Amino acid sequence: MPQQGTRTEMLNDDHAGIVRAGALLRAGRLVAFPTETVYGLGANAFDGQAVARVYEAKGRPAFNPLIVHVASLEAARALAVFNDDALRLAGAFWPGPLTLVLPVNPDAGLSGLVTAGLDSVAIRVPGHVLAQKLLAEAGCPVAAPSANPSGRISPTQASHVVAGLDGKIDAVLDGGACAVGLESTIVGLGSEPTLLRPGGMPVEAIEACLGRKLSEHLQGPTPNAPGQLSAHYAPKSRLRLNAVTTNPGERLLGFGPVDAKLNLSRAGDLVEAAANLFHHLHQLDDEGDAPIAVSPVPETGLGLAINDRLKRAATPPQ
Ligand code: TXA
Ligand code: MG
Repeated sequence: MPQQGTRTEMLNDDHAGIVRAGALLRAGRLVAFPTETVYGLGANAFDGQAVARVYEAKGRPAFNPLIVHVASLEAARALAVFNDDALRLAGAFWPGPLTLVLPVNPDAGLSGLVTAGLDSVAIRVPGHVLAQKLLAEAGCPVAAPSANPSGRISPTQASHVVAGLDGKIDAVLDGGACAVGLESTIVGLGSEPTLLRPGGMPVEAIEACLGRKLSEHLQGPTPNAPGQLSAHYAPKSRLRLNAVTTNPGERLLGFGPVDAKLNLSRAGDLVEAAANLFHHLHQLDDEGDAPIAVSPVPETGLGLAINDRLKRAATPPQ
């Protein structure tokens, strides 16, 4: 985050601007950048704290998995598993306004906050020339939701980003207006190709490429209202929230200065806690199925999203 009182840097679409933006991303800072769809709020996808700051800057009250942006199909194949349909779509439409949801490669090193703990990851190779140059310069995958405060419409110009997020993010790379102006189309490639969100790539073109219809599983009414995920990562164990003491047989997932083997943040830092959340839940799952008591997490800043996720994890699907 910028220091208190510092403003967001405006970077030009020249060599110096791209070099600066790449260095900021590598250092875990937040940089808004243009894509052909909308401006994205980018963070190094390997850096959990950087990704946590994306949620903080947007004031997002819940953790939704984010789209990972990479420069090429080759870079994407290091992060996820591509079946024949995925390869066909990537070959036809990347770079471009199409996002593919694929089985994540668990060894790729992506932050658990990027996938919200799911075993799939959304990936896109953007076509905008500045986005391409930035991804090459950064040298890391870049997680990016649209660069607007939560609940506001997606930005299609640098000035929109500044209007919403000035002082909350480190820099904006100004690439003028976005050509498509609508978020990417999202296709899931599980057992059958599924439309998860309509967007900038026409469904007809995708179906023509695959030679069959997409199943439909729309997540939300419009692309501007990011869909609530129907599938959430849910741990096997029962979770008890706001636990000040542990009951016999319970394991403690701590927050703050408590005696717990796993602590979201001993220092009580919500950014650190968000970065650790899915990793720690997975680790507790791997260790066994004894019930879990979770220390209280304050309902401020990122605490809203952390508590939202914990409540979902504590309420198993009906
Ligand atoms: O055009 C775009 O897609 C823009 C630019 C910046 O690339 N990005 C964007 O991101 O619209 P965002 O965060 O606003 O929307 C991402 C959507 C969310 O609805 C999220 O639920 C879905 O992608 N998503 C991400 N990972 C997923 C996964 N593993 N499974 C299902 N849905 C996923
Ligand atoms: Mg959005």
